[in-house]
Amino acid sequence: MKKAKPFIKWVGGKNQLLEQFENYYPNELRKGTIKNYVEPFLGGGALFFALSQHYKIENAYLSDLNKDLILTYQTIQQRPNDLLDFLEQYQKDYDQTEQEKRNDLFLAVRQHFNLHRFEINYKKISDNWISRAAQFIFLNKTCFNGLFRLNSKGEFNVPYGKYKTAMIFDETNILAVSKILQNAEIQYANYSNCWDNVTENTFVYFDPPYRPISQTASFTTYTGTEFKDKEQLQLAQFFQKLDKEKGAKLMLSNSDPKNENPEDDFFEKAFFGYNIFKVSASRAINCDGEKRGKINELLITNYQYEPQTLAINF
Ligand SMILES: C[S@@+](CC[C@H](N)C(=O)[O-])C[C@H]1O[C@@H](n2cnc3c(N)ncnc32)[C@H](O)[C@@H]1O
Repeated sequence: MKKAKPFIKWVGGKNQLLEQFENYYPNELRKGTIKNYVEPFLGGGALFFALSQHYKIENAYLSDLNKDLILTYQTIQQRPNDLLDFLEQYQKDYDQTEQEKRNDLFLAVRQHFNLHRFEINYKKISDNWISRAAQFIFLNKTCFNGLFRLNSKGEFNVPYGKYKTAMIFDETNILAVSKILQNAEIQYANYSNCWDNVTENTFVYFDPPYRPISQTASFTTYTGTEFKDKEQLQLAQFFQKLDKEKGAKLMLSNSDPKNENPEDDFFEKAFFGYNIFKVSASRAINCDGEKRGKINELLITNYQYEPQTLAINF
């Protein structure tokens, strides 16, 4: 069966960094003694898909604070074939619409998505989830840069992406994703709710919204709520608490503020005593999202592993 991979584009997605991350996983994951995985800032789930098909992960707890993202994951988990019927229809509509009229199609779907919001009872999937999940995927694949941004009224307001072609879904991948998700608990939740699912034999990967690398860096909230320095510091405290009270293996990634300001020691202070590694990423570094460059990202862990010589210990 084909390997499952992210079914959406997601800002901050980790696909391109997976190869570099490989060096920094805990040895217990490689040895197979860690079988429990927790990812509380799930997004596109690049790491979850990579790890769950490579290592012996028996239980996964996956969560995010984006309502429609979680609705879509749960729909793929529980009703993949019904979802595929809707996605096929969206692909057909898109392909059969002339280039100049595709913006209208996009706006019509976006308007429907915004007008038909409903209270979601995550405990029980209902029929109206299926079309909403299909719309979420359609909008993600056809909007500008796959951004997810909500206005103050909670409406999705990203414009059309003007693509010549758009592959809205890959049937084999949706089915592969559904299969992988069978062993996962998927929750709409703040990251701190993962606490009860963490044991000593758990690997937790935190990928919070990036701390902006500059005042002009592109800004996305994903959820309608902000994640500023105050929230980054609260997360650092949560990381420390998990380390001390649960003894789990923890890894966290973020942008490196030293890309912009070599004096900025925000993360050294926030994660004092932990290992801070640098990996090299290519990503948009200004507000128009066009200028891409090589910049460093940080990987912070609470465990020692090979190659330890790369670690900068503060
Ligand atoms: C950098 S993205 C994660 C990207 C993901 N690792 C990937 O590969 O696509 C950060 C995610 O955190 C979510 N988020 C923001 N604030 C949150 C919070 N307080 N608790 C849980 N998730 C949150 C956003 O909805 C977004 O999906």
